[in-house]
Amino acid sequence: MSFRPNGMMIYKTEAEIALMKESATLVSKTLTEVAKVLKPGMTTIQIDTLCAKFVKDHKAIPSFLHYRGYPFTVCASVNDVVVHGFPNNSELKDGDIVSIDMGVILNGWHGDHAYTFILGEVEKEVLDLVRVTKESLYKGIEKATVNNRVGDIAFAIQEHTERKHGYGVVRELVGHGLGRSLHEDPQMPNYGKRGSGPKLKENLVLAIEPMINLGKKEVYTEDDGWTVRTADGKPSVHFEHDVCVKKGKALILSDYSIIEAAEKANANLNTSYYN
Ligand code: MF3
Ligand code: CO
Repeated sequence: MSFRPNGMMIYKTEAEIALMKESATLVSKTLTEVAKVLKPGMTTIQIDTLCAKFVKDHKAIPSFLHYRGYPFTVCASVNDVVVHGFPNNSELKDGDIVSIDMGVILNGWHGDHAYTFILGEVEKEVLDLVRVTKESLYKGIEKATVNNRVGDIAFAIQEHTERKHGYGVVRELVGHGLGRSLHEDPQMPNYGKRGSGPKLKENLVLAIEPMINLGKKEVYTEDDGWTVRTADGKPSVHFEHDVCVKKGKALILSDYSIIEAAEKANANLNTSYYN
């Protein structure tokens, strides 16, 4: 997402981080509900409806809905859609990959993260893209420690995806700080130089979100003003975690373990790349 940075980093207290963990975990729980029921024949509108109800039942507010006019609770980005796909009424099919990105506000604090699901059989090159993108997220998170810089995280992600595997790293969209606002400083690009950019201090909360294309890095935005697609029509993968900067080892506030458990239990979803 692009936003206007003002160079002001907002560090959180331990109590605030505990609240942000609740917000992030509510998003993880919502994505877990998606992982339980996702299958070919379902529409992304149905996913949006399910997520909206789950968030409401948990006394939270969907944060994407009406954000700069965004008209849905989730972003549902299928195949060559990179991010910000509108949920729609077409049926998902075997061989699709779909990123569900969602945000909530709970007790005034934002959670915002994303997961890419694979429906049924896909080409080996798509499985690899999903695996490597998820790996790159964790390689970035490893660098989210005190006294490292934004560029160290960016470099780690770019190194693993672009230099090692030849994928396209999207330049136009970046991760971000997270807190009482959905988008805080710093911007978190997925490409960059080691040792560059703002220095990371304890208790800065970041949404790190690699958007990685199987083919070229170029993307374009559709006339709806939101849907971002790859220029070459090849698939793109998006994973996002909410992460708190700590000394020695970053603290991940969101939780993939519950999503992955549900994903593995759902025979319609392909988890062979990490089984
Ligand atoms: N995870 C995305 C971001 O950080 C999603 C934003 S979609 C929007 O920007 F609708 F909220 F804009
Ligand atoms: Co985000």
